[in-house]
This record gives sequence, C-alpha cells and structure tokens, in this order.
Amino acid sequence: MNAASAPGKVILLGEHAVVYGESAIAVALDLRTRVTVAPRTDGGGGTLVNGQPLNVAYHVHVVHALDVVPPGGPVLVETESRVPSAAGLGSSAALTTATVGALLAMTAGWKDEETLARAAYEVEWRAQGGRGSPTDTSVAAHGRGVLVDASPHERHLWTVERGTRRWHLHDLELPPLRIVVGNTLDRGRTADQVARVAKFVARTGFAREVIADIGRATRAGLAALRASDMLALGSAMDRAHNSLTTLGVSTPRLDLYCEAARRAGAFGAKLTGSGGGGSMIALAADAAPVVAALRKVGCREPLIVALGGPGARREPAEGPGRTESLGQPEASR
Ligand code: MEV
Repeated sequence: MNAASAPGKVILLGEHAVVYGESAIAVALDLRTRVTVAPRTDGGGGTLVNGQPLNVAYHVHVVHALDVVPPGGPVLVETESRVPSAAGLGSSAALTTATVGALLAMTAGWKDEETLARAAYEVEWRAQGGRGSPTDTSVAAHGRGVLVDASPHERHLWTVERGTRRWHLHDLELPPLRIVVGNTLDRGRTADQVARVAKFVARTGFAREVIADIGRATRAGLAALRASDMLALGSAMDRAHNSLTTLGVSTPRLDLYCEAARRAGAFGAKLTGSGGGGSMIALAADAAPVVAALRKVGCREPLIVALGGPGARREPAEGPGRTESLGQPEASR
C-alpha cells in the first residue's frame, strides 16, 4: 500500500487572470487530502475508489490520474480529505496531487516535487477539458507560497507550457499570515467558471482589460506582501474582487460576505478560486469581529486558517479511516 497527501490552497490574488498569463499568488492551507493506493489482489475485476467501482462521472480526477500514471492493473484507492469540496479551496488539486503522488510511489516514479507537479497538472488539465493553469497543482505539490509570474527569476521552481501559454512558478516567502475563510456552501464548478471567462475574453477587449487590471492588483499585492503592508495587501484584494465581479464570477452571497468582512474591520476581502460559489477570504488584524460578522450574514462555519503549510509528501501506509468519500460528483477547487 502506498500513501501520499497534499494540501488545499487559497489564491490570495490573481485567479482567472493567471490563465491568461498574468501573475498569481497561491498559498497552501493546513488542511490536507490523503490518498492510499494498493494493487487489487482479491481477484475482482476493476479498480475501486472508496469501495465503489471507478466511475468517470464521480471520480474524474482519479480516472485521469490512472491514465497519466498507470498502475499496471486494478487498484484499490482510498481517500480522506479535510479540504472542503467545491469550496474554492483546492480540493480537486489536493485530491489529484495526492492520488498522483500515491501512484508515483507505487510505481517507483516518485522523484521530486516537479515530477509530481507536472503529472498532477496533466491530470487537472484533462479533467477540466483542456483549460486552466498549473497554479493549484503546483501549490499542492510545493506547499508554502507559490508565485506564478510572466518570466523566471530567483526562487524559480519550474516552468510549464501549454500551447502558446507559459507559466513560471516560484517559491514565495510569506510573512506569518492567518486569514478568515467564509464558505458560502454554494457549489461552483471550476471548469464552468473558467469556460465562462474564456467566452467573455474571446468576445470583448473589455474583458481583457479587466484581466490586465487583476494582474496589476496582484503585482501591487505582491509588493505589499513583501513589505508586510497588510493595509495595501487588503486594498489589492478589494480591487481584485471588484474585477472578478466584473468578470461575472462572483455571486451576491460572496459579495455580501466580503462587504460584511470589510465593515467588521478587515483590511480587504475577495472571493478565492474560481468563484460562482465557493469561498471568500478576508485579511484582518483581528479575526474575531470578522468571524462574528460573517456568522451574522449567514456564513455557517467561518474558518481562521494559517497559510503556508507543507506541500505534498509520502505518508506512512497505515492511517486513520477515511472521512470523505468520492461518491459525489467533484466540483470546483
Ligand atoms: C482556480 O483555483 C484558479 C483559476 O484561476 C483556474 C486556474 O488557474 O486553473 C480560476
């Protein structure tokens, strides 16, 4: 039996625009997904995922992972996740990266973070119908903070190319950061949101200007992060949220939660991930009033999370029983 785990993430700045070559900042969470893989030895026919027959409608990431890293026969896959699913918090990248990690470990292909990040991106790319950037899978593999940039510079990790696009991924040093996460519990599908923005960008120059403005907000936020200037980082987050709203990927509930967080004293707030539901994040000197304000507007379980946890790793084969099955359709990260 082989096991691996990988963290969920938040995108601090730059989602959607990163698909078009703008910068993005993604940060690992201290919430992880763990996957074990073992050869099926009971003589039964096919692969089982959490005891259920492999089904492309429900296990799309596992199906593609088995294509990208073939295990050479039917396997038993078990998953356990603390990353809320379809919440914009990187659950599918964490699942993909941990599954690919466990398969690489099983097939003696586990070499380094880069091999894992590349294989995991290949899986995500296929699962999303040939769209999306390597941001989520890279942060799931590397952990800490990841800066996606237009050209390589110091702390360069790897460069990924797809068609005419090229993403340079870098390790990003972070000050100790905690943020508040408000999950709307509205499920949004990453593939749908990315496709929606792609249509908008193909149709209008205006959408491309909005994408460029998200890029500017990300660069301002990066300078603020490096200077530990939380006020400036918060205003970059507000600006990015406005642009994401203009792109059509926010929702009234995400806007409501962001506004409530700002009124409660947050430096800034924005949706995180692909939107269309999922979560918002707020940066605040004092998280307690923000958590209270989010509860007041209906957010059931605001979380205070530490940013910058470790990346993917091999795990001891034995572990706690699974807590989340793959028996429901996978949706947004
Ligand atoms: C989703 O977490 C981030 C997006 O930018 C899509 C991507 O980069 O693949 C919306």
